[in-house]
Amino acid sequence: MATACITGASSGIGREFAVQLSKMGYNLVLVSRDVKELKKLAAGLNTRCSIIPCDLSDEKACIRLAYKLRKYRLSVLINNAGFGDIGNFHQTSLQKDLDMINVNVKAVHILTKKLLPGFIRRNCGYILNVASCAGLLPGGPYMASYYATKAYITSMTCAIHEELKEAGSRVRISILCPGPVSTNFNRVANVRFSLPGIPASFCVRYALKQMFRGKMVIIPTLPIKAVVTASRFVPRNMMLAMTSKQQQRKQ
Ligand SMILES: NC(=O)c1ccc[n+]([C@@H]2O[C@H](COP(=O)([O-])OP(=O)(O)OC[C@H]3O[C@@H](n4cnc5c(N)ncnc54)[C@H](OP(=O)(O)O)[C@@H]3O)[C@@H](O)[C@H]2O)c1
Repeated sequence: MATACITGASSGIGREFAVQLSKMGYNLVLVSRDVKELKKLAAGLNTRCSIIPCDLSDEKACIRLAYKLRKYRLSVLINNAGFGDIGNFHQTSLQKDLDMINVNVKAVHILTKKLLPGFIRRNCGYILNVASCAGLLPGGPYMASYYATKAYITSMTCAIHEELKEAGSRVRISILCPGPVSTNFNRVANVRFSLPGIPASFCVRYALKQMFRGKMVIIPTLPIKAVVTASRFVPRNMMLAMTSKQQQRKQ
């Protein structure tokens, strides 16, 4: 039976990935800090679930996690855990920024780096890095660090996607770039969405369908696709001013 690992499975989008992949028959490896929530989730699923508690803001813990995951010979890796923060760059907490960089960037980098060779050796499988539409825009005033972390993930993932394609590999790597999704994200980031969030169930259903098709950039909704496409033609400073307006409505 194939196995999928999901980071940040205790809540929101990650939890929904666990539910939908389990329904597809995957055994799961569930990762996050909140073991109680992971156990509750596992109890409601019909496939085998292993729980690995891990604080992904800790680099050494991420490396240990990567070693533990090797034995599962994963068919699917969903690098989903992440969080944001809002406010003027000069006023937000440096420690929170550094934790965010560790979780949103370093953990995704480490797990992709350490586990991709196994996928390549087996010449199959899927890695999905959960970024955000924030990662496809020139920058996000008042959420500067969050947008920057997601831009790193989109850049890294697209580059690896091309390397795998040029090598003729059957391994697929994608990025998921949604706009607002109704989860705990807002509470953690202290934001109010300026647009209504889509249900996590819809976001994940769409993401899995496109991931299994090997699509590189996955954007679940038309309005966000339109914004991302338009951003290629709008001068950078205008795009920043427009994003700033949206961001200010979130505070
Ligand atoms: N919701 C949105 O509007 C939206 C839009 C675009 C992209 N995204 C991205 O989607 C992903 C999932 O977010 P969500 O919306 O589902 O938010 P969420 O409901 O707050 O879930 C975040 C998940 O990340 C995990 N996490 C956070 N810090 C962690 C750490 N230090 N170590 C291990 N796990 C950690 C949390 O688990 P524990 O607390 O149990 O550790 C939780 O399971 C994030 O990468 C986010 O940036 C969200």
